Amino acid sequence: MTIIVTGGAGFIGGNFIYYQLKHYPQDRIVCLDSLTYAGNLKTLEGAMKSDHFCFVKCDVADREAVFALFEEEKPDIVVNFAAESHVDRSVENPEIFLKTNIMGTQVLMDACRKYGILRFHQVGTDEVYGDLPLDRPDLFFSEDSPLHTSSPYSASKAAADLLVLAYSRTFGLPVSITRCSNNYGPYHFPEKLIPLIITRALADESLPVYGTGENIRDWLYVEDHCSAIDLVMRKGREGEVYNIGAHNERNNLQVVKTILSALGKPESLIRFVKDRPGHDRRYAIDPTKIQNELGWEAQTDFDTGIRKTVQWYLDHQSWWKEILAGDYRDYYAQMYANR
Ligand code: NAD
Ligand code: DAU
Repeated sequence: MTIIVTGGAGFIGGNFIYYQLKHYPQDRIVCLDSLTYAGNLKTLEGAMKSDHFCFVKCDVADREAVFALFEEEKPDIVVNFAAESHVDRSVENPEIFLKTNIMGTQVLMDACRKYGILRFHQVGTDEVYGDLPLDRPDLFFSEDSPLHTSSPYSASKAAADLLVLAYSRTFGLPVSITRCSNNYGPYHFPEKLIPLIITRALADESLPVYGTGENIRDWLYVEDHCSAIDLVMRKGREGEVYNIGAHNERNNLQVVKTILSALGKPESLIRFVKDRPGHDRRYAIDPTKIQNELGWEAQTDFDTGIRKTVQWYLDHQSWWKEILAGDYRDYYAQMYANR
C-alpha cells in the first residue's frame, strides 16, 4: 500500500511515520509537508534512511501541487495531520488556520475523489466539543456531544470535520475521523505546555502557568494516539467518528509539578501569568466506542509517559535547542511579554 501522511514533519505525524515504518515495513510512506515553523526535517532523519519513505515539500492548500502528487503516487490511504495546531497562535492570527485546516482538507479530499482512495482519514481533536465545567467530573465527551468551539483553532478543526462528513454523505468518499485528547511525547514542539515546561525548567527559567493552573487536560502518550489512528484508518467503519483518550486527566499545575519532580527542579520556578482568552476549562474523552468496536487500549500511563518524555528531551537536546535558538525566541518574547 502507499500511504500519504500529511503534516508528517510535525509532532504526531512524525511519530506516526515511525509507527508505520515499524509495523508495516512493506508499505510505502509519502510524507507531504510544507515545513512551517512547526515542521522539522530533523524529526524525519531516521525515516529518510528507509527505501519505503519519501518526503515531498508541498502545501496541502496548493491544489495543483497536491493533484500532481496524487497523479504520481496514486495513494491507497491519505491520513491528514497537516494543520496549524497552536491555540495561542490562532488567537493572534486566525486566517492561516482557516486556509490550512479547512481549505487544505478540502483540496486533499478533492484529490481523493479524482484519483480514488481506499480511505481518507482526518486527524481531529477533542477541542471541537468545547469544554466541560470543572465541578462536573461525571461528564465526558462522546462522539455525539455537540460541536461547541472556543478558539479560531478549534472552530477551523470543527469546520474541517463537518466538511469530511459532508464529502462522505454527498460524494460517498470513504472517510473516517478520530478526535483525540492532548498528546505528549518525543518531537513535541516547545510552544506547547509539556515541552515548554521541560525545556525551560532545564534552563532554570520561569514557568508560565495561565490563570490559576486549574484547567484540566486529558493526556495521551503520542504512540497510543498513533496505534488508535492506525486501527481506525485500516479497520474503522467508513463515515464514522471515533474519540481517543485514556482517562488521564490532570490540571496544568499537577502536570508542571510532575515534570519538576522528574527533573529535580524547584516549584519556585512557577509563575502564574495572564490567562489565555477563551481558555477551555476541562477536556475529558469517553473512549468506549473505539475500545468496544476495535479493541483499542492505551499502553502508557501518565507517570510512565512523562518519565519517558523527560528522558527523551534530556537525550535529544540538539533537536530542541536548535528550535529555541531560531525564530522561536521572538515568538516567546512576543507571546509572553505582557502576561
Ligand atoms: P504540529 O504543529 O506539531 O505539526 C503540524 C505539521 O503540519 C507541521 O509539520 C507543519 O509543517 C505541517 N503543516 C502546517 N501547515 C501545512 C500546510 N499548509 N501544508 C502542509 N503541511 C502543513 O501539530 P501536531 O501537534 O503534530 O498535530 C497534528 C494534527 O493532530 C493536527 O491536525 C492537530 O489538530 C491534531 N491533534 C493534535 C493534538 C495534540 O495534542 N498535539 C491532539 C489532537 C489532535
Ligand atoms: O486537546 C487537543 C489539543 O491539545 C490539540 O487539538 C491542540 O493541537 C494542542 O495544541 C492541544 O491544545 P491545548 O491548548 O490544550 O495545548 P497547550 O499545550 O497549548 O496547553 C495545554 C494547557 O496548558 C492549556 O490549558 C493552556 C495551558 N498553558 C499552555 C502554555 C503554552 C499554560 O498554562 N502555559 C503555557 O505556556
